[in-house]
Amino acid sequence: SAPLRTHAAARGKFIGTALATGPLSNETSYRDLAATEFSQVTAENAMKWESTEPSQGQFTFSGADAVVNFATQNNQQVHGHTLVWHSQTPGWVQGLGATAMRAAMQNHISQVVGRYANNPAVVSWDVVNEVFDDNGGMRTSFWYNTLGQSYIADAFRAARAADPNARLCINDYNVEGVNAKSTAMYNLVSSLRQQGVPVDCVGLQGHLAIQYGFPGDLQQNLQRFADLGVQVRITELDVRMQTPRDATKDATQATYYRNVVNACNAVTACAGVTIWGFTDKYSWVPDTFPGQGAALIYNESYQQKPSYTAVHDALAGG
Ligand code: G3I
Repeated sequence: SAPLRTHAAARGKFIGTALATGPLSNETSYRDLAATEFSQVTAENAMKWESTEPSQGQFTFSGADAVVNFATQNNQQVHGHTLVWHSQTPGWVQGLGATAMRAAMQNHISQVVGRYANNPAVVSWDVVNEVFDDNGGMRTSFWYNTLGQSYIADAFRAARAADPNARLCINDYNVEGVNAKSTAMYNLVSSLRQQGVPVDCVGLQGHLAIQYGFPGDLQQNLQRFADLGVQVRITELDVRMQTPRDATKDATQATYYRNVVNACNAVTACAGVTIWGFTDKYSWVPDTFPGQGAALIYNESYQQKPSYTAVHDALAGG
C-alpha cells in the first residue's frame, strides 16, 4: 500500500516526523522509512539553541544542516524547531541581563532563521515554545522573568524580519483540548495578531497517553484557532502507554492516532500532523516517564504497529 506521505499529499496535508541525527547518520532502516513515509521533518534536537549557538556568537549547524540536507534529498519540507524555549538553552543565555538577553535572542533568531531563509525546504518555525504553565498563566521561565511577556512579540518580529516567507508558529503541549492552557494560548494569539505581531500558526504538540484519555474536543479546539485566521497543526504527536505493550493497549493507541489524523483532516486550516519520531527504538518517552513508552507507529525492529495502520487508513480513507 502507498506510504503515508502519498495519502497525506492527496489531501493537501503534510505527514511529518521528528529526526534524530544519530540514526539519521548511520542506520539504513531509519533513513529509508523516514524518507519514504514522511513529507515533512522536524529536527528532534539539532536546531535547538544548545545545538546551534552553544557559546555566544559561535554558531554550529552540522546537525541542522544534516536534517535539512536529508529533507532536500527526499523532497521533504522542514519545520524549524525551536528558536526561543526555556529548555536546551545554554547557561550563557540564561544569565544575561534584560538588554543583553533581548539582543542575544534577536541575534540568534536572525542567524538561525537567516541561514535557511533562501532554502526552499525550510518552510516554518516554532518561534516560541511552551510559554504557558498548565494553569494558563505565563510560564515563569528565565525569558519571562528577565524580559516579561514582550519577548514573545519581539521573537516573532525578529523571525519575520529574518525570513519574510516562513510560517511562524507558537507551539505548546497540553493544549490539545479546550482547557485553561489552550484558552490562554487562544487569547494570546488573538491579542498578538490584533497588535500586528506576525503569528501565522499554532502548533499543538500532541504528547498523549492512553491512560489519560483522548481530548475529545480536539477538532473543536483546532477550529477555534483556525477561526482566528491562523494555520493549525499537530507538531509532536505520540501516544505513550505503560509498557509492555499488549493488543488491548495497542488498539487504544491506534484509536488515538486515528482520532488525531481525523481531526486534522476535518479542519481545513490544519496543515498536517507530525509524529515525534516513528520507531519505538528512538523516543524521548522512556527517559522522561520511566515505565512508559511504545508511543510511536513502528516497533523497535521497524515493524509497523496498529498505530501505523490507523494513521495510514485515516489519511487514505474517504
Ligand atoms: O546530546 C547529549 C549527549 O551528548 C549526551 O551524551 C546524552 C546523555 O544523556 O545526552 C544528550 O542530550 C540529550 C538530548 O535529548 C539529545 O539526545 C538530552 O540528555 C535529552 O534530555 C534530550 O531530550 C530531548 C528533550 O526534548 C529535551 O528537552 C528529546 O530528545 C526530545 O525528544 C525532546 O523534545 C521535546 C520538544 O523539543 C519540545 N516538546 C516536548 C518534547 C518532548 O520532551
